[in-house]
Amino acid sequence: MIIAIDGPAGVGKGTLARRLAAHFDLQHLETGALYRAVGLRVLRSGGDPHDPIAAAAAAGDLHVADLADPALRSDEVAEAASVVAAQKSVRQALLDFQRNFAKSPPGNAKGAVLDGRDIGTVICPDAEVKLFLVARPQVRAKRRYEELRARGEPAIYARVLADIEIRDRRDANRGIAALKPADDAIEIDTSDLDADRVFEKALDAIERRTRRLG
Ligand code: CDP
Repeated sequence: MIIAIDGPAGVGKGTLARRLAAHFDLQHLETGALYRAVGLRVLRSGGDPHDPIAAAAAAGDLHVADLADPALRSDEVAEAASVVAAQKSVRQALLDFQRNFAKSPPGNAKGAVLDGRDIGTVICPDAEVKLFLVARPQVRAKRRYEELRARGEPAIYARVLADIEIRDRRDANRGIAALKPADDAIEIDTSDLDADRVFEKALDAIERRTRRLG
C-alpha cells in the first residue's frame, strides 16, 4: 500500500504522514528532507543553489546521515531546497531512491507513506491513495512561525509569509514536477482543522478509496 501526500509548505503533510504511517504500520519518507539536504550541502560548500553543477554534485553525493541534520529545518535551507528542486539533474538523481523506498520499504514494511510535491504525479503515479493538502497561506505561515518560535528561533510573521509565498510560487511554476494535484488526488483543506480532524478526514478518504479499489 502506498499513500502519496502532496501539498505546499506548512500545510501539515509531515504530521499527517507520520500519523498515517503509525496507524497502518507503514514506513514514512519525507521527501522534502532530500531536497533540503541537497540545498544544505551546496550552502555548506560555499556554492550557489542556482548553479546546476554544484546542485547536481550535491545530489549525487547524499548520505543517509545528511537527512538527520537539525540544520535542515531552517528557512534558509528551505529556500535553497526549492531552488535546487527546480533543476532536472537534481530530481533525476533523487528519483530512484524515492521509488525504491516506495516499492521496497525498509524493515519489510507492507507499504509506505511518502510526502512531498510530486509524489502522486511523478514518483508514485500508481499509489493506491493520493491526498493533496491545501490551506490558506496566512494559516500556513502562522503554523510555521509558531514552529520556529517554539524552537527558540527568531521569526517575523510577515517575513515567514513572504518566504512561503515565494517558495510556493517557484514550486508551482517550475517546468518540471511542478506542485499540483494528481487527477485522482483527494483534496483536504486543513485551514480550519486541527491535526486530529485532518487525520480523521484522511482515514475516511482512504477507507472510501480502498473500498472502491477492493
Ligand atoms: O516542510 P515544508 O513543506 O516547508 O518543505 P519541504 O517539504 O521540506 O520541502 C522543501 C522544498 O523541497 C520545497 O519547497 C520544494 O521545492 C522541494 N520539494 C520538491 O520539489 N519535491 C518534493 N517531493 C519535496 C520537496
